[in-house]
Amino acid sequence: MLSVLGIESTAHTFGVGVVKNGKVLANIKRTYTTNKGGIIPLDAAKFHQKNKYEIYFEALNAAKIQESEVEVISFSQGPGLSPCLLEGMKFAKELSKKLKKPLVPVNHCIAHLEIGELTGAKDPVMLYTSGANTQIIAYASGKYRVFGETLDIGVGNFIDTFARYAGIGFPGGPVIQKLAEKSRDYIEIPYKVKGMDIALSGILTNLKQKLESEKFRLADLAYSMQETVFAMLVETAERALAHTGKKELLLGGGVACNSRLQEMCKIMCKERGAKYFCPENSLLVDNAAMIAFLGEIMFKSGIKIPHRDLDKIDIKPRQRTDEVDVSWK
Ligand code: ATP
Ligand code: FE2
Repeated sequence: MLSVLGIESTAHTFGVGVVKNGKVLANIKRTYTTNKGGIIPLDAAKFHQKNKYEIYFEALNAAKIQESEVEVISFSQGPGLSPCLLEGMKFAKELSKKLKKPLVPVNHCIAHLEIGELTGAKDPVMLYTSGANTQIIAYASGKYRVFGETLDIGVGNFIDTFARYAGIGFPGGPVIQKLAEKSRDYIEIPYKVKGMDIALSGILTNLKQKLESEKFRLADLAYSMQETVFAMLVETAERALAHTGKKELLLGGGVACNSRLQEMCKIMCKERGAKYFCPENSLLVDNAAMIAFLGEIMFKSGIKIPHRDLDKIDIKPRQRTDEVDVSWK
């Protein structure tokens, strides 16, 4: 049985995971954070470069395997921040050459979806809400298709920017959730669903103005922001369920760690008789176990780049979910 190593480096997280026969043996990661301001791609890439060996050996230890037992190396090819993706790919190629093992390039968004299999989801609509990405994805006619998405910024980046205006460091999502739990006073903010898509930048401007006016408590704004924006996400996810006729909702991405979003999704699923699936937090946020997990599935279907052909492989910072040829399904 083969051990598949996965490398994740699309943004702020550098991770190495090991999967063997669909079982996660290791999922080690370290995340670049800041006290002030957002993520600086070149700094995040430096962070990855500095931490990669430690995380790699930690993952081998956790999986209780030797380097020589790694049979396949998979890595996040995109989408993501170029300097960060490059660090991951360089490391994947270095290992591929050293161990003389093939590479499997993996789409990060599809990995978020496929790891949902571990929760029992078989053919879900995924509400994928992370920093850079906000999409509703489902498999239809040979591809993973995007049924709805943000028209401007990802919901995680939206929350982090709001948090930054309020003087909270990165990532802001968990702090905003705690603040929101302290309030029940709803303040009217814009609700922007356009067909299957949502728009967030106007809401961000509105929240910024409200913060600057100093007329509102931060907790009330955090609460109102969550209630409004999560309702927009749930509405579009529900519409995708209706449109595709699928009966399962799967959550993915870091924002799905939010217990209020989880609760709202559960209620919607219950009301329309759909099954609700949500991986544990360590598999919701950016992680390398999901890259190894999908890498193994793809490798078993015959997809691999021999270690002699590494020059043919490059990062795909803007790779779209529906561009990927899902030949393994
Ligand atoms: P991707 O590369 O897929 O776009 P990402 O690099 O942004 O993802 P993730 O780890 O999936 O990384 O998600 C991070 C985001 O999740 C951050 O924006 C963070 O604020 C948000 N987040 C984490 N926990 C919570 C929470 N409890 N509530 C709301 N947002 C959260
Ligand atoms: Fe992600």
